[in-house]
Amino acid sequence: MKVIITKDYEEMSAKAFELMKQVVTENPSAVLGLATGSTPLGLYERMAEDHKKNGTSYKQVKTVNLDEYEGLDISSDQSYVYFMRENLFRHLDIRPANTNIENGKAQDPEAECARYNALLESMRQDIQVLGIGSNGHIAFNEPGTPFDAETHVVDLTESTIRDNSRLFARIEDVPRRAFTMGPKNIMNARRILILASGANKAKAVLGLVKGEVTEQLPASVLQRHPDCTLVCDEAAASLL
Ligand code: PGA
Repeated sequence: MKVIITKDYEEMSAKAFELMKQVVTENPSAVLGLATGSTPLGLYERMAEDHKKNGTSYKQVKTVNLDEYEGLDISSDQSYVYFMRENLFRHLDIRPANTNIENGKAQDPEAECARYNALLESMRQDIQVLGIGSNGHIAFNEPGTPFDAETHVVDLTESTIRDNSRLFARIEDVPRRAFTMGPKNIMNARRILILASGANKAKAVLGLVKGEVTEQLPASVLQRHPDCTLVCDEAAASLL
């Protein structure tokens, strides 16, 4: 794993943008695996700014997102489909039809997982952006998720519900279940870009880079990926 340590969040975002721009410039019809959460916001701002200023085009780009809360769709401003539209897609020239995410309101969750797995098979990510949870999760793959799991529905852990409650009016409003790509779908990406910022991620980052490869720390599986880059700020790297 390549590790790049930056001074702060802004520098982390700038470095992430540099890597992302390289992918889109080299292959204008690249498949981008994208993530939600606070961490990639600085990257998305830079992508939007660059599109506006320099005209970098996303017309042929396709995207696949990691995860979505069960029970929410674009009508909810807490859904991840809404997050992606507001924070990235509406600022680019990407075709909405080329953006993909699990349908949180699917009537038949198993069929939805099968649909998403088939989709991912047909469009392998050229790059997959990831954040990391303070408990070492990637996407909503909580500790204990088998490394060979594909897209599935998960019960969120108390720690994730707590971490994510900052974005909801009340902790009771945080959905208890979510759809998520599995570690296997993530590992299938040609290249991984994992981002981490802040001291609350330091322990998880230590496990990611130097810990035992164990399903108890889902991010540790990335040690087995042939082309994984971690960009993290000094606070997140403080235990390395
Ligand atoms: P965050 O979430 O970017 O909001 O910290 C990361 C994650 O839980 O994967």
